[in-house]
Amino acid sequence: MENGAGMAELLSIILAAGEGTRMRSATPKVLHQVGGLPMVSHAIRAAQAAGASSIAVVIGPNHESISAVVMAVSPSARVYEQTERLGTGHAVRQARPAFETASGNVIVLYADTPLVTPATMASIVARLEAGADIVVVGFEPDDPSGYGRLLTEGDRLLAIREHKDATEAERAIGLVNSGIIGFRSATLRAVIDRIGNDNAKGEFYLTDAIELATADKRKVEYTVADAMEVIGVDDRSKLAKAETQFQELRRDDFMRAGVTLKDPATIHFSWDTEIGRDVTIWPNVVFGPGVRIGADVEIRSFCDIEQAVIGEGASIGPFARIRGGAEVGPDVHLGNFVEVKKSRIGAGTKAGHLSYLGDAVIGARTNIGAGTITCNYDGVNKDVTTIGDDVFIGSNASLVAPVTIGDGAYTASGSVITEDVPAGAVAFGRARQVNKSDYAPKLREQALAKRAQKGKR
Ligand code: UD1
Repeated sequence: MENGAGMAELLSIILAAGEGTRMRSATPKVLHQVGGLPMVSHAIRAAQAAGASSIAVVIGPNHESISAVVMAVSPSARVYEQTERLGTGHAVRQARPAFETASGNVIVLYADTPLVTPATMASIVARLEAGADIVVVGFEPDDPSGYGRLLTEGDRLLAIREHKDATEAERAIGLVNSGIIGFRSATLRAVIDRIGNDNAKGEFYLTDAIELATADKRKVEYTVADAMEVIGVDDRSKLAKAETQFQELRRDDFMRAGVTLKDPATIHFSWDTEIGRDVTIWPNVVFGPGVRIGADVEIRSFCDIEQAVIGEGASIGPFARIRGGAEVGPDVHLGNFVEVKKSRIGAGTKAGHLSYLGDAVIGARTNIGAGTITCNYDGVNKDVTTIGDDVFIGSNASLVAPVTIGDGAYTASGSVITEDVPAGAVAFGRARQVNKSDYAPKLREQALAKRAQKGKR
């Protein structure tokens, strides 16, 4: 069967049944995140980028939580359970219904290998399309011990020898299996059931497929990937290495795309961060998932931004926290210690200092004074504060939602606004000031007398 691009259909089988004990975590290993996305989702996205139209994920027992994450990235994915961990060959067998009748190609990859690039996946597909029966992605780690060694002859791959089963001479080979293997589905079907477990670990090694295919005179090839790209994560230290590498790649992407990063190593992105041209980001800024930044925005130091859209020309921070559901319009200024949650802020509006704007709809060119708080929560319900265009909210205001402040209105500093303010009105929600003439000296005398009294005691 051919797909639209004239290529054979592609199935990806993602192995996620690892025990993950070295993570020392209540969370399954493949749900740990890199760049704010679970590792298993990275693997699925790599497969999708290579054109995989079907995804099969093999999970371990009691790991149903992985299914929901898989479905979020690929609603049509099929999840299979491997009840006993009997090896990578056995794991692939669990996904048999997915490849039993498939006519195209199959790529097997591990869910704990989050940095695989679309280019590597595409090169596997290209070789299969060009006539290879199997393509193995190899790499040369600093220390090859523990990995399966690639036994090659010219550009042909003859076998993969697992470390425990390898001779001294084979262990001297530096080129090893990354775990990413492409098969023509007919080839996979021809070998998968012939894999035995007569080896040092007593496991069904998927890698034995190579020797079986070679014996069948099938064409087995290999490619070599960068070691960092195929890093497998099995503990927190590798997770941190993968994160560091992921961040470096993202920073390079953004700088190439016209974003100025003042101190790149201190700026952290998520897998889906989008940033427009000529944006400047100062040191120590963190982007959680779901952020889209328009062109010409300046983000100053120590901002934390997630699930938010920032319009062109806005200036954010330093020390701003922009949270879920924030839609910040063009040319808005949000200054130090301003927190915005689930709020829409119109073009050119300014909140320069010390504010909480939650569940608010704010118009254009409005000034939000220092210390303004939208009181959106009564302990049970969340309510909306609506503020029009060209409004002036005086400093230190408490806007008790639900409340609406009309276009062009003013609220006096220090007000607690509990009732709607009509357009053009000035609202005073505070006690009137009283000046008592010549009272200060008397007050001081009283205070001095009190101290003298205390001294006697
Ligand atoms: C495997 C390869 C080895 C390669 C190395 C790269 C085999 C036999 N060996 O060895 O050639 O150099 O990966 O990291 O394939 N898994 C299951 N079910 C199982 C066993 C494993 O789903 O029963 C999954 C794991 O979740 C993991 C992956 O397969 O993501 C690799 O398994 P692991 O046991 O770590 O294989 P290695 O011994 O490292």
